Amino acid sequence: MTPLIFLFVGMLHLLPLCSGRAVCKDVCHLKTFEQIKEEIAGYQDVAKAIVDLAVCGKAQNRSYERLALLVDTVGPRLTGSPNLEKAIQIMYQNLMDDGLKNVHLEPVKVPHWERGQESAVMLEPRNHSMAILGLGSSVGTPPEGITAEVLVVSSFDELHRRASEARGKIVVYNQPYKGYGESVQYRVQGAVEAAKVGAVASLIKSVASFSIYSPHTGIQYYQDGVPQIPTACITVEDAEMMARMASRGTKIVIQLKMEAKNYPDTESFNTVAEITGSKYPEQVVLVSGHLDSWDVGQGALDDGSGAFVSWEALSLIKDLGLRPKRTLRLVLWTAEEQGGIGSLQYYQQHKVNISNFSLVMESDLGNFMPTGLAFTGSDKARAIMKEVMNLLQPINTTQVFGDGEGVDINYWIQAGVPGASLLDDLKRYFSFHHSQGDTMTALDPMQMNYSAAVWAVVSYVIADLDEMLPR
Ligand SMILES: *[C@@H]1O[C@H](CO)[C@@H](O)[C@H](O)[C@H]1NC(C)=O
Ligand SMILES: *[C@@H]1O[C@H](CO)[C@@H](O)[C@H](O)[C@H]1NC(C)=O
Ligand SMILES: *[C@@H]1O[C@H](CO)[C@@H](O)[C@H](O)[C@H]1NC(C)=O
Ligand SMILES: *[C@@H]1O[C@H](CO)[C@@H](O)[C@H](O)[C@H]1NC(C)=O
Ligand SMILES: *[C@@H]1O[C@H](CO)[C@@H](O)[C@H](O)[C@H]1NC(C)=O
Ligand SMILES: *[C@@H]1O[C@H](CO)[C@@H](O)[C@H](O)[C@H]1NC(C)=O
Ligand SMILES: [Zn+2]
Repeated sequence: MTPLIFLFVGMLHLLPLCSGRAVCKDVCHLKTFEQIKEEIAGYQDVAKAIVDLAVCGKAQNRSYERLALLVDTVGPRLTGSPNLEKAIQIMYQNLMDDGLKNVHLEPVKVPHWERGQESAVMLEPRNHSMAILGLGSSVGTPPEGITAEVLVVSSFDELHRRASEARGKIVVYNQPYKGYGESVQYRVQGAVEAAKVGAVASLIKSVASFSIYSPHTGIQYYQDGVPQIPTACITVEDAEMMARMASRGTKIVIQLKMEAKNYPDTESFNTVAEITGSKYPEQVVLVSGHLDSWDVGQGALDDGSGAFVSWEALSLIKDLGLRPKRTLRLVLWTAEEQGGIGSLQYYQQHKVNISNFSLVMESDLGNFMPTGLAFTGSDKARAIMKEVMNLLQPINTTQVFGDGEGVDINYWIQAGVPGASLLDDLKRYFSFHHSQGDTMTALDPMQMNYSAAVWAVVSYVIADLDEMLPR
C-alpha cells in the first residue's frame, strides 16, 4: 500500500459513519439495533445445533481428549524449549488434518530462559527446606548460593518505610491476595523494588487464590539501571510463617541457590488456521489462546484448554457444515507468558488490516463452567453481544461482563477493536495457575464442553452477521 492510499484509508475513519454509500463498504452500520436484534434471533436454531454438538453430540469430550493427548505427549511448553516447538509442529499437523484452511506458522523471535536446579533452605531459626520456583527471566545465584538474613514486608509501602533495613538482606514479600491483577505486581516488580533498596535477593509469596504448599511461578521484569537480583516465588504457607516469625522478632536466615539463566533469543511461531469467510473473506473474527506455558505442570489450564477450546470452536462450526460470511481465524500464540511476545508481533504485522477486524477473542482465564463473556467495546457493540449471548439460554450462560481485555488481544482492543474473553470461576483458576498442579486432572471435560459451545456460538454469529460489530 502506498503512503497516499494509506492516508486516505486512515481518513475514512474521520468521516461520520453511514454518511453515504460511497464510504460504507466495510465499516458502516446501516441496520438499526432493532433490525440487528431480529437478525440475531434468527440464529436460535444454529446456536442450538452448535450447543447440541458440543455438549451432547459426537463432539462431546473432543477438546478435552485432544488436549490430553498433546499435553501427555509433550508436557509443559516453556518458551524457548524444544517442547514448545514440538507442540507447535503437532498443532500444525492437527489443524491440517482437521481440514482447516490457510494453516500456517508465523515466525517470532522469543526469549529463552531456563530455571535449572534451585533450592531455598531456611537455616535459622530452624532448618526447613522450602518449595520455590524461580521467576521467569530471573538471574541465578553464584554456585555457592546467597545466604542472608530475611526482611519480611507485606507491601511496597512497608518496604520503602523500612528501606534502611533491607541492605544485604533477602526481601520476603507477604502481600495479601487481592485478586490476581492487583497482587501480581509483587511478582512482576518485587525484585526491582527490593534491589533499589539494596537487597541481594527477593522471595515472593505466590500469587494464588488457594494453596496446598504450591509455589506459582510467572514472569518478572528487571529495570535498566537497577541491579539484577535473583528472585523466586515461595508458598503462601512459608510466606505467612516467616511473617509470623518476624513479628515475634525472630531472626531468619535463608540460603538461596538458583541456576536460572537467560540465553539468546530463539525462534518460535504463532500458529494460524482459518475457516475462510464466504462473503467477506478479508474481514476477520479472531479466536485465540496461547500454546506456550510455564515449565511446571502440563500447561493444561494455562492455556492448553483455551487454545483447544478455540480450535474446537472452528471444528464444531466446520462439522456442522457452516461457513460464516467473515473469516474465522484461529491464532495459537507463542510466548504469551513472557509478556505477549507472539501477540505483539502479530499485531504489528497485521494492524494494517485493523479496520477489517470485527472482534478479537481470547480464552486464557480457564475453561471451567463458563459464567459468561467479558467484553470491551462500545455501548452499541455491547448491546449486540448481549443479544448474541441470549442465544446461549439453553445452557444458561448469557451474561456479558466488563473488561474483555487479555494479554494477547489488548493491542487490538486499545486500538479500538471490540474484544472478548471467556469467563469462569477465577478463584479455581488461580488455585492451579503457573504451578505443578496445572494438569489435566484440574480440568473437567463436562465443563470444557460448555466453554467450547459458548466460544463457537459467539465467534460464528459475530462472523456471520451482515455487518461488522460497531466500534
Ligand atoms: C468424557 O471424559 C470423561 C473423563 O475422561 C469420561 O469419564 C467420560 O466417560 C467421557 N464421556 C464420553 C462420552 O466419552
Ligand atoms: C541444619 O542444616 C545444616 C546444613 O544443611 C546442618 O549442617 C545443620 O546441622 C542442621 N542443623 C540442625 C539443627 O539440624
Ligand atoms: C490484509 O488483508 C488483505 C485482504 O484484505 C490480505 O490480502 C493481506 O494479506 C492482509 N495483510 C496482512 C499483513 O495481514
Ligand atoms: C477490508 O475489507 C474490504 C472488503 O470486505 C476491502 O474492500 C478493504 O480493502 C479491506 N480493508 C483493508 C484495510 O484491508
Ligand atoms: C442460570 O444462571 C444464573 C446466573 O449465573 C443463575 O443465577 C441461575 O441460578 C441459573 N439457572 C439455572 C436454572 O441454572
Ligand atoms: C458436557 O457437559 C455437560 C454439562 O456438564 C454434561 O452434562 C455432559 O455429559 C457433557 N458431555 C460429555 C460428553 O461429557
Ligand atoms: Zn495464560
